Amino acid sequence: MQQPVRIAPSILSADFAKLGEEVRAIDEAGADWIHVDVMDGHFVPNITIGPQVVKAIRPHTAKPLDVHLMIAPVDPYLDAFAEAGADTISIHVEAGPHTHRSLQHIRKLGKRAGVVLTPQTPAKALDYLIDSVDLVLVMSVNPGFGGQSFIPSALRKIEAVRMMIDKGGYTVDLEVDGGIDAETGPRAIAAGADALVAGTASFRGGPDAYAANIRALRGA
Ligand code: DX5
Ligand code: ZN
Repeated sequence: MQQPVRIAPSILSADFAKLGEEVRAIDEAGADWIHVDVMDGHFVPNITIGPQVVKAIRPHTAKPLDVHLMIAPVDPYLDAFAEAGADTISIHVEAGPHTHRSLQHIRKLGKRAGVVLTPQTPAKALDYLIDSVDLVLVMSVNPGFGGQSFIPSALRKIEAVRMMIDKGGYTVDLEVDGGIDAETGPRAIAAGADALVAGTASFRGGPDAYAANIRALRGA
């Protein structure tokens, strides 16, 4: 069942020189989750942050840390991100040879397990995973950078995943990530998404604008 929309600002668009402050500001502005984009310069062509940074921001918010791992291999790092204070750990189906085992391991660590589909990955990749996850993340840009344009075919995929979740009666969050703003957000929600990741649209304009930015996304 589609749940009330959760807004997950991606700190990729925050000021990295003052991450703690930024996390507090976006939390107070009404974020539901804090989305953390981890990139390794190998699985995706960009390098961002590691478990140490997750650990450093942890004391600055009580909201769930929604950690999106764009790294391969992913298995050697799952424990470190769990220990650092992640609440949800999401992995790409291409990030290792045995996605199901990795998802099981995340749950064994006491964390919510998420699986991510890149723009080219079909919804069908979820056929034998959907009963082992707490969250599905449909990417609406190619992973690696903030500020890219929304890829419309993600909407068809969201519809397909929504149908899969509802038909099976699963309790699974359906999150969309990439190019989300007050125009694309409503289209993703209409297709069945119930969590919106937004980097650029959350952090634009600096701290004074965060509350209005999040309201605009929520009004979406
Ligand atoms: C892309 C990341 C996204 C990104 C979203 O690889 O997974 O979370 O930061 O940024 P915007 O909202 O700017 O597209
Ligand atoms: Zn992300």
